Amino acid sequence: MSERKKVFIKTYGCQMNVYDSERMAEALGGQGYDSTDRAEDADMILLNTCHIREKAAEKVYSELGRMKPLKIARPDLKIGVAGCVAQAEGEEIMRRQPMVDLVVGPQSYHRLPQMEARVQAGEKALDTDFPAEDKFATLRTRPRMKRAPSAFLTVQEGCDKFCAFCVVPYTSGAEVSRPAERILEEARDLVARGVRELTLLGQNVNAYHGAAAGVAAGGTAGNRAAGGDWTLARLIRALAEIDGLERIRYTTSHPNDMGDDLIAAHADCDKLMPYLHLPVQSGSDRILKAMNRKHTAAAYLELIEKIRAARPDLMLSGDFIVGFPGETDADFEQTLDLVRQVGFGQAYSFKYSTRPGTPAAERAQVEEAVKDERLQRLQALLTQQQRQAQDAMVGRTVKVLFERRGRMPGQLTGKSDYLHAVHVTAPDSFLSQVKSVRIMATSTNSLAGELVET
Ligand code: 5AD
Ligand code: SF4
Repeated sequence: MSERKKVFIKTYGCQMNVYDSERMAEALGGQGYDSTDRAEDADMILLNTCHIREKAAEKVYSELGRMKPLKIARPDLKIGVAGCVAQAEGEEIMRRQPMVDLVVGPQSYHRLPQMEARVQAGEKALDTDFPAEDKFATLRTRPRMKRAPSAFLTVQEGCDKFCAFCVVPYTSGAEVSRPAERILEEARDLVARGVRELTLLGQNVNAYHGAAAGVAAGGTAGNRAAGGDWTLARLIRALAEIDGLERIRYTTSHPNDMGDDLIAAHADCDKLMPYLHLPVQSGSDRILKAMNRKHTAAAYLELIEKIRAARPDLMLSGDFIVGFPGETDADFEQTLDLVRQVGFGQAYSFKYSTRPGTPAAERAQVEEAVKDERLQRLQALLTQQQRQAQDAMVGRTVKVLFERRGRMPGQLTGKSDYLHAVHVTAPDSFLSQVKSVRIMATSTNSLAGELVET
């Protein structure tokens, strides 16, 4: 019997990458690899990189530099770079770091098994092409492992919005929606393997416009089918029909794609969770325009009002950028005002940083010290709102999907409908089940609760 090999995958960045890393691990499973979380034990190391943050490529090169001693000690060790930096840098990675054996872009993960075989034969493997075939097709042939109760499911990739600060439209390409039938089939498979909650993923997930069947709809080379008539709302309603699937979430959304049918789904689809990540980036109309967001602050507020009318207990999350080129103190104050008006349960905030090749990178920049000060003020306000949202849970009874054992003996940890982590004393038999829990206390990042007899 041949011995199994080990792959260490280091994941950077967004949930999309977490999902992709799982897919790569499964694809390599067929090549005789098990996952390990120690680079030292690995026969192959894969860096699944992310390009959205600052100096991503430089960080990858220094990480590769740190791995050099491992490769020198064990020349058989294979090293690969995946993700958006692989897509953007391509061959340059192998030129700058000749010890790299494999470079694979996000559009080519389905070809990883063939690439691994070439690498084992002592060749270098590079694939950053956009697919001529449907790259999701091979998903159906992956091994059937039992799954954690909560899983991601990619429904679309890429973005056509071209926000002035963002690299995604350049690195991930045009918007591509997977056919609804494929998504439903994969969802049924996941549920059969124990999944109870699905988070539908996409860089612009609510722009989803899949065809019923066939090749993915969108503009990517080789994949130019006409857009389909399946909206995200229709997809969510179809997924909600799957017995055993208890919760549906989706991320990340653009305000201009919040269609009425999606808002209606928040009102009457019980399985759709009352939590929405809807980035607005800024509260200033001038800055929103400069960002090419194509909506005003008032339009965002009106939209929030409409969604909250449909689902009054909705918890909102968002993304903010401070110090975008041209942002004045007055613009920044308008961002704080918008945050006060909305009341976020949770949010991410970033200092603007330049991405080569994007329009805003060429503009006059805001001073670093000013960005720092604005970020601190915004984060203080957002943290205060997060605390308030958590405190408001105390005394309430919420539903919790138990995901794993807690740190204390006899404890389980799970997520509430509002994505709060909740610790509860409960038997192991409750794992993967949704139970009613009364929230008793809150701490920095989690809630503590007690089971409610039902
Ligand atoms: N600078 C700072 N933040 C950025 N984001 C995207 N690009 C940049 C950039 N150049 C943030 C946005 C986006 C989130 C995923 O990352 O807020 O919504
Ligand atoms: Fe980037 Fe999102 Fe804007 Fe698309 S909508 S360009 S992914 S920030």
